[in-house]
Amino acid sequence: MRAFDSERFAEPPTHIAIIMDGNGRWAKARGLPRAAGHQRGAEAVRVAVESCGKLGVSYLTLYAFSSENWKRPPSEVDDLMALLRHYLTREVNVLHGNGVRLRFIGDRASLAGDIKSLIEEAETKTRANAGLTLTVAINYGSHNEILGACKRIARAVSEGALSSDSITEDVFEDFLDTANMPPPDLLIRTSGEQRLSNFLLWQLAYSELVFTDTLWPDFTKRSLEEAVGEYHGRDRRYGTRRG
Ligand code: FPP
Repeated sequence: MRAFDSERFAEPPTHIAIIMDGNGRWAKARGLPRAAGHQRGAEAVRVAVESCGKLGVSYLTLYAFSSENWKRPPSEVDDLMALLRHYLTREVNVLHGNGVRLRFIGDRASLAGDIKSLIEEAETKTRANAGLTLTVAINYGSHNEILGACKRIARAVSEGALSSDSITEDVFEDFLDTANMPPPDLLIRTSGEQRLSNFLLWQLAYSELVFTDTLWPDFTKRSLEEAVGEYHGRDRRYGTRRG
């Protein structure tokens, strides 16, 4: 992989999305419980947020808990929720101090009441911040997000607030959880898997995809720079011809 060269590539990607994968394998390789892998994964989140800030990235979107993750053993779901609770309790003030704006995407309805409250408090507290926008996907699934948007659009049309002829791509995007956010320029998935796993399916239409074998807990600033370097080596054409 080509490393990111900040002098040659003055413009970082505006928006990076990451599927953080490999926590379980990281723990297994060390004879540790999966929860230890998730804990180290949360450390890697801190590093990724800091590194994106340093590189001048404006938006970072992280897939923390998919709508499919409820199917994991209850003890692991509890561990992940405890970690999110911990992150929301302990990290928000630090993020706020660093000018980070927090957003959450996904279906909040089935989250525990205290997590819902922590999410709302974090969004409210950091709303006016002008630094990195950190979006955390919790109980998120793209199909569900798109269906929800369709339902809300149908309701707006039936109530006369919207005419069906006026539904453009821009209007549709306003009904997604990611409204008012540019689409990701770069998607990174760690741990060697090469799937989108129901993450940002609409938004990733023209994103560059970078897959790395690095397991998420081992993902460092250098790993991020390498992925950005690979992104800069790509020729983004948005469906147009080369040259
Ligand atoms: C995938 O690894 C990772 C997850 C399902 C959860 C991601 C969560 C974190 C990184 C920690 C908490 C997040 C925040 C924002 C504080 P896996 O368990 O599927 O790994 P495996 O494929 O090796 O089993």
